[in-house]
Amino acid sequence: MYIINYITLLDSDEEKLFEGTLSSNDSFLKTFQELDIDIPFSCNMGCCMSCGVRVLEGIEYINQEKYGEIYIEVENDIILMCIAGLETNISTNIRITLKSLM
Ligand code: FES
Repeated sequence: MYIINYITLLDSDEEKLFEGTLSSNDSFLKTFQELDIDIPFSCNMGCCMSCGVRVLEGIEYINQEKYGEIYIEVENDIILMCIAGLETNISTNIRITLKSLM
């Protein structure tokens, strides 16, 4: 179980889709889906860019391949939410801001 003390998810127009505290032990995609947040996705295994988001803040806390391998080339500040998760099992006092590419 991990806890993100403060996470903000923006759509591509910078409208807030989510803002607050999260606790989960799944990928970012599954975690947001469980909250009924509509996230674009397709392959669900790191092969496309559908679930890609730019990390505006907090990339040091994210393991980009925690739940699978990246099979495409992505920029350093982009994560694929279907396979990315928190770097550590339990974290506190962290802040992450994600902006959707789609
Ligand atoms: S849904 Fe294809 S990379 Fe995440």
